[in-house]
Amino acid sequence: MPANRFNGFTQYGIGIGLRIPHYDHILSKKPVVDWFEIISENFMVDGGRPLRLLDRILEHYRVVQHGVSMYFGSAEPLARDHLRRLKALVRRTGTPWLTDHLCWGSVDGTYTHDLLPMPYTFEAAKLTARKIREVRDFVEVPVAVENVSSYAEYHVSEMTEWEFLSEVVERADCGILLDVNNIYVSSVNHRFRPMDYLENVPHERVAQIHIAGHTRYRKYILDTHDHPVIDPVWKLYEAAIRRCGPTATLLEWDDRIPSLRKCTPRRSKPTASWRPWRRRPPPLRCRPPRAIPRKASSSLREPRADPAENVPGGLRAAGARVPHAETRAGRRLHAPLRRLVHQTQRPAHLLRAPRAV
Ligand SMILES: [Fe+2]
Repeated sequence: MPANRFNGFTQYGIGIGLRIPHYDHILSKKPVVDWFEIISENFMVDGGRPLRLLDRILEHYRVVQHGVSMYFGSAEPLARDHLRRLKALVRRTGTPWLTDHLCWGSVDGTYTHDLLPMPYTFEAAKLTARKIREVRDFVEVPVAVENVSSYAEYHVSEMTEWEFLSEVVERADCGILLDVNNIYVSSVNHRFRPMDYLENVPHERVAQIHIAGHTRYRKYILDTHDHPVIDPVWKLYEAAIRRCGPTATLLEWDDRIPSLRKCTPRRSKPTASWRPWRRRPPPLRCRPPRAIPRKASSSLREPRADPAENVPGGLRAAGARVPHAETRAGRRLHAPLRRLVHQTQRPAHLLRAPRAV
């Protein structure tokens, strides 16, 4: 939101991801930067150089925390030790809000270190929202969840991705970190209109926006964060700003990282279209979010008896499918998990169903 309750009703401007190649430049030149986004996990340590460096950054800049391993969508309970370390870091940085991804990625304490797409079911939305609330209550700062780019879908899904995102954030009463590049990447990989996504999320919950570059292959796109942002993504960003109002924005670079100057979005977009919020936003013409028949759907789908069923099942891509029964029981998932993870990193048209276990 231009400045909504999820970002402390403050206009934060343009941020830059804090990356190692820029450390020296930042500490010696102290460039003007509205805020830095840090990866929380890089600083959840007991001491040493990372925290010393962070403290020096905090002397001069506002820092916003972004996480990569909360796995709100995993069926297992949250790791308490991880939460305690996260809260200590939140206290240290004074981050105005906390973001992590709307995904799953761990089973029985085994972490994939990947952002796996969710099955878009009401049951998964309920579980995910409960865990987001739990994190927010524990760390005591607003939480916003980021839409991920994906390369596989599930047969068991009951709604679209944007309906799932809306369902989760409404249930959790949390914010959204809207990654417009991820919308674009998934729209090409799964063949939907990116504007359908953008128009049908609750704009008043968008606390932050990510934009990034990607790598295009013949039949799919990989979200690599190692290229400049392409024009269709800039257009999507401008459309997002028109709908959400001026929103804290970060241009992501994670590989082939350019100079700090080029990481600043206003410099990397050499047209007058950058900072579109300087223009008067046009009247909203988006369609209202599609009503989600929560009760009707819930009554149609009785809660499943086995709690481990929250583990995603039924991959859908190129006609391939993971039989639900194989992926349902977390206890039996370890072996197939590796294959599943491997497959979800691959483009959709290359997916094959794993063998039964
Ligand atoms: Fe992102």
